[in-house]
Amino acid sequence: LPLLLMVTLISGCGQSNDGGSKDVLEIGTDAAYPPFEKQKGNGEITGFDVDIIKAIAKAEGLKVHVQHTGWDPLFEAVKRGKVDAGISAMTINPERQKKFDFSKPYFDAKQTILLPKSSKIKRLKELKGKKIGVQSGTTGEAVVQKTFGKTYQGLKGYEDTPGAIDDLYNGRVDAVVADDGVVKDYLKNRMKNQFQMVEDPSFEPEYYGIIVKKGNKELLDKINAGLKKIQSNGTYDEIYTQYFGE
Ligand code: ARG
Repeated sequence: LPLLLMVTLISGCGQSNDGGSKDVLEIGTDAAYPPFEKQKGNGEITGFDVDIIKAIAKAEGLKVHVQHTGWDPLFEAVKRGKVDAGISAMTINPERQKKFDFSKPYFDAKQTILLPKSSKIKRLKELKGKKIGVQSGTTGEAVVQKTFGKTYQGLKGYEDTPGAIDDLYNGRVDAVVADDGVVKDYLKNRMKNQFQMVEDPSFEPEYYGIIVKKGNKELLDKINAGLKKIQSNGTYDEIYTQYFGE
């Protein structure tokens, strides 16, 4: 074979036939947020978000590989293209929308307060002077800062939410602020007799979205199209029931 032809053939292999876009999407998550994402002992990542992104990808003829990046590093990983997208129970907010493009919302959430069962607290502001644990860089942290100020002494930030919950359990903080789905899951699976979930009516509704690198319209369109398909063909509801039904 003439050399030029050989080089052309070799460099052509491995490329997909749709203009270079990949068939396997690399997805990042902070896999310590059950039931949305969790990592089993064998490393496998499962959860509501994982099933949703897999279903979206399948509807669009794509495959996904989900990796645990952690929470803060997830944003950087999407920005730098180390992963194609992030799904991590991530609330859509204007600050993040400046830096990333979000899919259409796929889940409704709100912040809640996890407290010892004996507590009579009904509103976050009543916790003034108390130690409050949050996952750093989340909307839970934002709501505490909004209530008590950015430099509130009692605010304790953790790299992940289980870290904050462990410290509540051990008495190192007085309360934890986190998403309702996660707090409910925690109470369902552990410590129902010792802890309670309090809903502060002043907390704003939140909506989860999937992030892609700003300007990656091709992928964002596919994710939105896939989401629409699974919402209308019953797949979304099936997954929802599996995690949040009775
Ligand atoms: N919904 C909250 C936020 O966007 C918390 C999400 C935390 N997700 C996670 N996988 N740790 O800030």
